[in-house]
Amino acid sequence: MNKILIIGGSGVLGSAVVHTLQTERIDFLTGSRNQLKKDSYSTVNQSTEIPWTRVDLVTGEGLPKALIGVDTVLHLASAPGKIGHEFFETVITRNLLSALKQSTVKHLIYSSIVGVDKIQYSYYRAKREAELLIQESQLPYTILRATQFHDLVDAALGKLMSLPIGFIPKKLLDQPIDVGSVAQKLYQLTQTGPQQTIINLGGPQVLDAGTLVKQWMRYRKISKPIIPIPILGSLMKSFARGEHTCPEKAFDSKTWETYLADRYGSR
Ligand SMILES: NC(=O)c1ccc[n+]([C@@H]2O[C@H](COP(=O)([O-])OP(=O)(O)OC[C@H]3O[C@@H](n4cnc5c(N)ncnc54)[C@H](OP(=O)(O)O)[C@@H]3O)[C@@H](O)[C@H]2O)c1
Repeated sequence: MNKILIIGGSGVLGSAVVHTLQTERIDFLTGSRNQLKKDSYSTVNQSTEIPWTRVDLVTGEGLPKALIGVDTVLHLASAPGKIGHEFFETVITRNLLSALKQSTVKHLIYSSIVGVDKIQYSYYRAKREAELLIQESQLPYTILRATQFHDLVDAALGKLMSLPIGFIPKKLLDQPIDVGSVAQKLYQLTQTGPQQTIINLGGPQVLDAGTLVKQWMRYRKISKPIIPIPILGSLMKSFARGEHTCPEKAFDSKTWETYLADRYGSR
C-alpha cells in the first residue's frame, strides 16, 4: 500500500495528478489551503469526492496530521514572490522538509522546471534553491523538472496578444508539454521509488514563438498584425538559446497544435 499526499493538489498540475491517481485507483489525499473545485477541471472525476485536508506550508498548519500514514509526498505547491527576504518557494520547502523529518514518509517528489539551474530569473532561482534544500536534506527524493504546460503558454500569449497589435519576440523557443503527461510521469515516479536525482521532461516539439503564435491565432480565429521584437537582455537571450528546453521528450504528450485543436476546436 502506497498512500500519496499531493500538496498543491488544487493547482493546475495537482488536478491533473488527481485525475491520474483516480484513474489508477491509487489511495491519495490532497493538501492545500483551498479545496479543489471539481468543476474547474473537466478531467477530474466529478462523481467521486476528492480527499482533501487543509495544509498551509507557510504556517505549517495541518501538515503533521496530513502526513500520518503517508508513504509518498508530491510537493506541487508553489507561488512566486518572497516572504521577508526569502523566496516563498524556499520557505515552504524548508517547512515541508522539517515536517518530513518527523514523519514516516519514504519518498518526496518535487516538481521543478527545466533550466532553473541556468536561467537568471527570480522564480527560477527560488526553484533551484528549493531543489538544493531537498538534495541536501538526506531525505529520499526525486526531482522532476518539466517544461511549460500548454495552459501557461496559452495564457501568456493571451496577455501578449491583448493589444490591437501583437508584439512578439519571435525567436524565443519553447517546448510546451501536456500537463497530463507530467502527471503521468509523477505517477510513475511514485511507483518506482526515490531516484536521488533530477529528471527532465519536455514536450514533444521545440517551437519558436513565431510558430507558437501563428498556430494560436489560427485556432483562436484571431487576425491582427504581429511586430517582431528584438531579443534583449540576458533573460530573453537564455530563452532564445533554449536553456529551458531539454532532449528528454514526452512523446505521449499532445503537441501544441493538438492542444489548440482540442481546446478551441478545428481551425
Ligand atoms: N505551470 C507550468 O507551466 C509549470 C511547468 C513546470 C513546472 N511547474 C511547477 O509545477 C508546480 C505546480 O505548478 P502549477 O502550475 O500547478 O501551479 P498552481 O496552479 O499555481 O498551483 C499551486 C498550488 O500550490 C498551492 N499552494 C500555494 N501556497 C500554498 C501554501 N502556503 N500551502 C499549501 N499549498 C499552497 C495552491 O493551493 P492553495 O492556493 O489552495 O493553497 C495550489 O494548489 C510548481 O512547482 C511549478 O513551478 C509548472
